[in-house]
Order: sequence, then structure tokens, then C-alpha cells
Amino acid sequence: MSVGKRFKIASIGAGNVGASVAQYCLEMELGDVVLTDIVEGLPQGKALDLTEAGPIRGYSGICTGTNDYADIAGADVVVVTAGLPRKPGMTRLDLLGTNGRIISGICESIATHAPNAVVIIVTNPLDVMVYLAHKKLGFPANRVIGMAGCLDSARMRSFVAMELGVSMKNVDTMVLGSHGDDMVPLPHYTTVSGIPITKLISQERIDAIVERTRKGGGEIVALLKTGSAYYAPAASAARMVQSVIRDEKQLLPCAALLTGQYGLNDIFMGVPCVLGANGVEQILELEISEADQQSLHRSAGEVQSGIDGLKELGIL
Ligand code: APR
Repeated sequence: MSVGKRFKIASIGAGNVGASVAQYCLEMELGDVVLTDIVEGLPQGKALDLTEAGPIRGYSGICTGTNDYADIAGADVVVVTAGLPRKPGMTRLDLLGTNGRIISGICESIATHAPNAVVIIVTNPLDVMVYLAHKKLGFPANRVIGMAGCLDSARMRSFVAMELGVSMKNVDTMVLGSHGDDMVPLPHYTTVSGIPITKLISQERIDAIVERTRKGGGEIVALLKTGSAYYAPAASAARMVQSVIRDEKQLLPCAALLTGQYGLNDIFMGVPCVLGANGVEQILELEISEADQQSLHRSAGEVQSGIDGLKELGIL
């Protein structure tokens, strides 16, 4: 009898997003989860709590908590959510220095203890942090991925579904660019059961949905006041983990290293990616309008200024 592989997922950061990533990965039966944090007791307590929910929720994965990076050894996928979240009035870029230092340190530990893992970065400012992670890890670019587009497109999908009173499951969309107010939602690639939304929703309402998508993170920060969104970000990261662990080859918008695609080079930004066991296995280049191309390049400019900021701070 052949024995199936039991996968190991490490979630670095046991805060709101990290603990929710662990919960979703367990609920989706993706494997065992190691929750890691610098705060003593926090990952251990949440991990035990999550494991104890297993008999009721019907999952068999074990969650362990640790403050020691050696415990991530052998992880197939590492999801990094450590770092400060936004507070009202802050942009994602305001987190640059603090989160940059945190990501640098964590990447050294990942490179030491889980050198074969596929690494998914969630920490903001996302596109800059994933670029930094790639430099610090020294892993091939296909194994370093940023989680943003999945979340932005999930937000847009829910807004379209709510607008039309249809199931979210029927709505598909694509969002390119950076994870910020310059992101590029693509209404022309948004469909409801194959029907383009341009045939179903007025241009004025589509514009409003695009704008709400761009500001989707800020809308939640303004409501929560003490932190940023975590259920949908965690669900998005878990979906990416699923595609990698099960080698599903799902086509998802993710931040990947661009090497000439969309006229951009040496930058991580949201583009349609095929995710499988090797991480980013393909990047698709869509035909987009001149206006969207311009937005994409504006968005890249914003990411580049974050990268330059890291250099000025001596982090990169
Ligand atoms: N190693 C491990 N964990 C760390 C480290 C580190 N070096 N530094 C900080 N942490 C932990 C904190 O102790 C905290 O438990 O990261 C966790 C962050 O959790 P929250 O403050 O709840 O933040 P969260 O809402 O989870 O957001 C985390 O994800 O979506 C992004 O913008 C968000 O950058 C933010 C990140």
C-alpha cells in the first residue's frame, strides 16, 4: 500500500491573519500547521485551541505553536503574515521600515530551516515585501509569491454578486497591479457565469465597484479602527496554499516576479499566475487597454518607490 504524503504548512505570525490562515488550512484538510510567532504562548495557545476544534469541525490536521523557527523544518509551504497591520489614516507604505526589518529576519530563518518551501508573503506593503523576501531568501522566483490579487479579486467578486443579487460562486474576475489604491481591476475580464458584466451592469455602477475594490482594504480598516482585514486575506492565502499543495494549477492573480511581462522588469506585481507544486508555474499576459496599461505602470512606479525606500533605509 502506498502511503500518502502528509503536508506541512508553516504560518509565520500568529496574529489575526496568521491564525485565520491556520484555521482555513486545517478546515480545508491541507495538512498539519505550525504557527510561529515571537510572542511567547500566543502561537502555542492558538494552536492548541485550533487542534481541539478538530474533532468538532471534522479535520484531522494537527496545529502546533512555537517561538522557534527550527520547528518549521520540512515545511512544504510557508505563509508569512508577521508584521504590523494598518491603522486608520495609514497607507500600506507607512509600514515599510518596520515590516521590512521583520521580513528580512524571518526570511533568513526560512532559508535556513525550510529551504525547499514555496513561500507566500502576505505582510504589507505586499508588493515591496515580496520583492524583499525574494532577495533575502535567495530562492528561485517561482517559489516566492505575494498574496494580494486573490483578495482584491474576491472583494470585486463579492461586490459584483451583491450588485446583481447572484451567487458569488458565479462571478469571476481579474485584478492586476500592486496591492494598493493604484491596483487595476479589469471589468472587461469580469463575468457572471460567462456573461461579461459590461452587459449586466451600467458603466457608472461598474466604476463604483472598481473604486470600492481599490479601497476595499481601507474600508475595513476604517470600520475596525484597531487593525486591518483578516478573514478574506487569510482565505485568499489558504486558497493559494491549496493550489500549491494539491498541484491544482489554479489560475489566480498573485504577485510574481516580472521579467518583461506587461513591459515590466525586476518587480513583483499582481498578474494572472498558474499555481502548482512548483509555485508560480506560468504567468499569463492578457491583452489590456491602453488606459489599464498606463494604470499598471503607475502602479509599478508606486512599488518601485517602496523598493527605493527600503534601499534608503538600508534594509535592501
Ligand atoms: N516573527 C514572527 N512573528 C512576528 C514577528 C517576527 N519577527 N514580528 C511580529 N510578529 C507577529 C506579531 O507578534 C503578531 O502576532 O506578527 C503578528 C501580526 O499579527 P497582527 O498584529 O494581528 O496583524 P495581522 O492583522 O495578522 O496582519 C499581519 O498581514 O495583511 C497583512 O497588513 C497586514 O502586514 C500585516 C500582516
